[in-house]
Amino acid sequence: MATTKSPVVDIHTHVYPPSYIELLKSRDAIPYIRSFPPSPALRLVILPAEDTESTSRGRPVGPEYYDITKKIEFMDRHSIDVSVISLANPWLDWVPAAEAGKAAEGINNEVNEECGRYPGRLFAFGTLPLSGGKDVIVKEIARLKELKYMRGIILGTTGLGKGLDDLELLPIFQALQDAKLPIFLHPHYGLPGSVWGERANEYGHVLPLALGFPLETTIAVTRMILSGVFEKVPELQMILAHSGGTLPFLAGRIESCIEHDAHLKAEGKLGKGRKTVWDVLKKNIYLDAVIYSEVGLKAAIQASGQDRIMFGTDHPFFPPLEGENETWASVETNYEAIFGALGSGSDGALAALGGNAVRVLNLSI
Ligand code: URA
Ligand code: ZN
Repeated sequence: MATTKSPVVDIHTHVYPPSYIELLKSRDAIPYIRSFPPSPALRLVILPAEDTESTSRGRPVGPEYYDITKKIEFMDRHSIDVSVISLANPWLDWVPAAEAGKAAEGINNEVNEECGRYPGRLFAFGTLPLSGGKDVIVKEIARLKELKYMRGIILGTTGLGKGLDDLELLPIFQALQDAKLPIFLHPHYGLPGSVWGERANEYGHVLPLALGFPLETTIAVTRMILSGVFEKVPELQMILAHSGGTLPFLAGRIESCIEHDAHLKAEGKLGKGRKTVWDVLKKNIYLDAVIYSEVGLKAAIQASGQDRIMFGTDHPFFPPLEGENETWASVETNYEAIFGALGSGSDGALAALGGNAVRVLNLSI
C-alpha cells in the first residue's frame, strides 16, 4: 500500500507495546494501570490531573492500546495506508537511570518488530532513554538509525529534566541532526494543576488536554528558539504535535516580544544571524494536522507552508464515547479540516494527507 501514488499516512498514532503495559501494571504511582473496584475494568492513569478520586480517574485501556492488529483494523476502517507509530506518553521518562538503556532497547526492538509484521504499512518513531545520561542516549540514537522501520524519535518536553533549552541537550540534538532522525515533539506534563482552579475535577480531562498540552508544546519550542538551539544545530528537524500547540497563532507575538526585549538586545542576541520564529517554522519545523478545525489548520499552513503539514489521528486516544466500531469523529474532523483548508483532491491536500510524510520520513521500503 505504501507504493500507491497518493497514500494516506498517519504520523501521530500511538502504541503501548505489551511489555510496556506489563511495566505499568506493576506500578501504583503514575504512570500505572489498575482496576478500581467494584469495576474490574483496567484503567490507564498517566496524567497528574487524572490521578484523583473522581470520575475522570484515568481512562479505559483495552487492546487498541497494545494489540497491533487493532491498529491495522483502525487504519483499514479510516482509509489510512501507512502509520508511523510511536510509544505514547509518558514514554520512558520515569524509568530509573540504571534501567533506561535496556528499557529503550527492548521497547524500540519490540516496536520495530511490530512494524516488520506489516511491511510497508507500519514505520515508527523510537523512544530515547532520557534518564540514562548522554552516552546511553547517543548510543541508542545510533542503534535506532540501524533499525529498519525507525524514522525519527518521539520526545516529551522535559528533556534531561530541565526542559529543551538545556545546554546539556545540544550533543543529543546534534546526534539526531547527524543521524537525520527528526524529533516528533509531544506534550504530556501540561501546566501546573493550580491554573485549572478548584473546580477542575468537574471538567473531566478537557482543560489539561485541550489547553495544557498545546501550551506545553508552545512553551517548550519557544524556549528552544530563545536559547538559540536552531542556530547551534541548524538542520535539526522537528515535527510538532497538535499543529504546534499555539505556536502558529502566537508566532507574531513571540517574535515581537523578542524584537522589543531590551535584555536580549543588551546581551547581543538580536543581531545578524538570529533565526526568527518564522524562519524556524519554515526551516526546522513540520506540523501535524491534529487540530480538529480549518481555522487552526490554516494558521499552521500559513506559518510553516503546505509542504510541512502531516495528517495524524492520535489513535487510540479520543475514541467515540459510544459505538466504538464506527468511524471515529476525531479522525473525520481532521480529514475535513484538510479538505476544507486545502481543497479536496488538491496537491496541497494530497501532500498533507501523505505526500509530505513519505518525502520527509522516507517511507518506502
Ligand atoms: N492523551 C494523552 O495522554 N496522550 C495523547 O497523545 C492524547 C491524549
Ligand atoms: Zn498523541
